[in-house]
Amino acid sequence: MIYVLNGPNLRRLGTREPDVYGAETFADLAELCRETGRELGVEVVVRQTDDEATMVGWIHEAADHKIPVVLNPAAFTHYSYALRDAIAQRTAPLVEVHISNPAAREEFRHTSVVAGVATGTIAGFGLRSYVLALQAIVEMASE
Ligand code: DQA
Repeated sequence: MIYVLNGPNLRRLGTREPDVYGAETFADLAELCRETGRELGVEVVVRQTDDEATMVGWIHEAADHKIPVVLNPAAFTHYSYALRDAIAQRTAPLVEVHISNPAAREEFRHTSVVAGVATGTIAGFGLRSYVLALQAIVEMASE
């Protein structure tokens, strides 16, 4: 099993700043991730929350059960030390993903407080960032 966890405002994909995040909805994203999981032969569980405590709880759950995670921390990326400290306890790979390329956007998005405790980061490929992250996790597990 792989968790695909999404932070604040990502449920609004499709209507939220489509010039930045594209026209596809959160339901489209969830289906793309589950379909990718089916192709890779792994169950994918997709969740979204606007709440930091809920996200920290999901990261603890993943750590307790050695579940790999694809995480789009959304705005939490840039300031949540609580999320960083939770990710530091991980027991399986965790790939940070972004739909846009934060390094090419506003200055405050250039800092990720979680990147240093993630396995790696994939950013700027639209929804394909998630597909690449799922492929990377499955490939790493088979090595
Ligand atoms: C994002 C980039 C973040 O800076 C932003 O706060 C988001 C989405 C992305 O996927 O491109 O909510 O994580």
